[in-house]
Amino acid sequence: MRTHYCGDVTEALDGQTVSLCGWVARRRDLGGLIFAGLRDHRGVVQVVVEPDNAVAFAEAEKLRNEFCIRIDGTVRMRPESQFNERMATGRVEVLAHSVTILNAAAPLPLLMNDEDGEEVRLKYRYLDLRRDRLQHNLRLRARMNQAIRGFLEAREFVDTETPILTRATPEGARDYLVPSRVNAGRFFALPQSPQIFKQLLMMSGMDRYYQIARCFRDEDLRADRQPEFTQLDLEMAFVEEPEVQEVAEGLIRETFRAVLDVDLDDPFPRMSWHEAMNRFGSDKPDLRIRLELVSVDEAVGGVDFKVFAGPAADPASRVAALCVPGGSELSRKQIDEYTEFVGRYGAKGLAWMKIRDAAGGVEGVQSPIAKFLDDQSINGIVQATGARDGDLIFFGAGPRGTVNAFMGALRLKVGRDRDLVEGGWKPLWVVDFPMFEYDDDDQRYYALHHPFTAPAVADPEALKGDPGGAVSRGYDMVLNGSEIGGGSVRIHDPALQQAVFDVLGIDKAEASARFGFLLEALRYGCPPHGGIAFGLDRIAALMAGEDSIREVIAFPKTTTAGCPLTGAPTTIEAEQLDELHVSVKQ
Ligand code: AMO
Ligand code: AMP
Repeated sequence: MRTHYCGDVTEALDGQTVSLCGWVARRRDLGGLIFAGLRDHRGVVQVVVEPDNAVAFAEAEKLRNEFCIRIDGTVRMRPESQFNERMATGRVEVLAHSVTILNAAAPLPLLMNDEDGEEVRLKYRYLDLRRDRLQHNLRLRARMNQAIRGFLEAREFVDTETPILTRATPEGARDYLVPSRVNAGRFFALPQSPQIFKQLLMMSGMDRYYQIARCFRDEDLRADRQPEFTQLDLEMAFVEEPEVQEVAEGLIRETFRAVLDVDLDDPFPRMSWHEAMNRFGSDKPDLRIRLELVSVDEAVGGVDFKVFAGPAADPASRVAALCVPGGSELSRKQIDEYTEFVGRYGAKGLAWMKIRDAAGGVEGVQSPIAKFLDDQSINGIVQATGARDGDLIFFGAGPRGTVNAFMGALRLKVGRDRDLVEGGWKPLWVVDFPMFEYDDDDQRYYALHHPFTAPAVADPEALKGDPGGAVSRGYDMVLNGSEIGGGSVRIHDPALQQAVFDVLGIDKAEASARFGFLLEALRYGCPPHGGIAFGLDRIAALMAGEDSIREVIAFPKTTTAGCPLTGAPTTIEAEQLDELHVSVKQ
């Protein structure tokens, strides 16, 4: 139907006859002429229709935004005064010989710009996706996939599909379930990841596996979480951490080079989980922000201020300081807003101190808690934080987990608010995670990664003797504060696997009911193996400079896990439910 793409019509085509197809981006009637912007995925070109061409002119008069049309015409130079150097097509226009309306468009239900709300954008996603920004994002994502496949294929990774209708997989979220018609009262679970199958593939002698795999998790949704999302999943046999990390790092480096022409650090820096939590209050620190949390437990250990002295003396608690350069200019109102902000993360308060004279002890600071402190503690705080005149220090005190959560969030917020986020890319590996986390409410341990992650100790009894102190062989890849991937060396010894289940309170009967097939498989010559999975939606969003992964997914769900376009999830007719042996509670 067409000879060229709209965006490719440049002065090189001056004088040529072209046929173009696309959508009307705008239409203007000027001094008897009709101008239309004709848009396709490559760009917009200006079309002119003159009144002497009565047939074409009559058609052009009907045009409205988003009409789908075809134009046959001649490319000609615009008058120099009308050059638009911001567009590749900005020096030319197409004089239409004929205008064919392929399909009219009803009045548009949205503006088709960034002002449209999420709900309407997703309801009319096919219109929303016509926009440059989303066209760019989806094409960028396709280039990312292509670079990934190229890298892995060259290294003998075998692309293998694994089941979607399966049984529960243990990534810690709720499952999406599918009732079985043939097996009354039984359900498939959609995979939270291909974890178990990729381990089985290693036991099957596949050596190196990869898959761009859809995963399903029924969890609370946020900007970086969708109920169905896409992983680049990979697994390797006969490897330990360095081999997996080298491939994973090489893959990400190569993908960034291919898609964005960016060179990432080589090698990526490594940081232990403990260091990340202490310095950044997060297991996915954004290293583009230079601010750091500093422990001041020692400096405030002796003061007569319960809020600080209690946590300072308790190994399960901490007093963390965040020094904000130039922060003395913050108003009471701004400080109150930060206090309210950290409250959402469980903080009981947010002490602060403005530094007037860093060498002046109590006299040198302005702070509601100054009266509880003495020269010695203030000197200690100033020294630990490196605070200077004009800075402000925020303090968080309490149980480690809570303080890290709210001070980590505060660090990010202050960093953004005060324009302290450096440009560029800051990748890192976070390693040496604890194996387990104890939940005081449930009085049990949870796995920080999934339960197939190997502990650093290989002895099952040693693991069971001190679960809280066990370090895992898991690793996360973090980029600009986003967890883009996670993986581990796996357990390949049935006794060690059972020990992990024991710690998690999964007894033999339950383990055999849920994972019996995997435990059985471990008994027939399972090779040592390990792997990783990357969140491709997150990587694509980072590459595209988008805050939400919804902007890089063609048909995403809303934050309430629905699809405004199709109306899914929907109710089901009684007859169909009956066939599935399911009844719905009213
Ligand atoms: P994990 O659960 O860490 O590991 O997932 C791997 C990566 O997937 C991305 N991700 C998500 N992206 C969007 N929406 C979600 N709801 C979501 N959940 C996770 C993250 C994360 O780093 N089987 C293991 C991997 C392994 O051990 O090899 C797994 O699934 O970027
Ligand atoms: P209070 O003793 O509750 O009046 O608090 C005195 C000061 O300590 C106030 O500035 C509070 O914001 C601050 N504060 C209270 N609890 C904490 C906490 N857990 N961490 C940091 N500051 C706190």
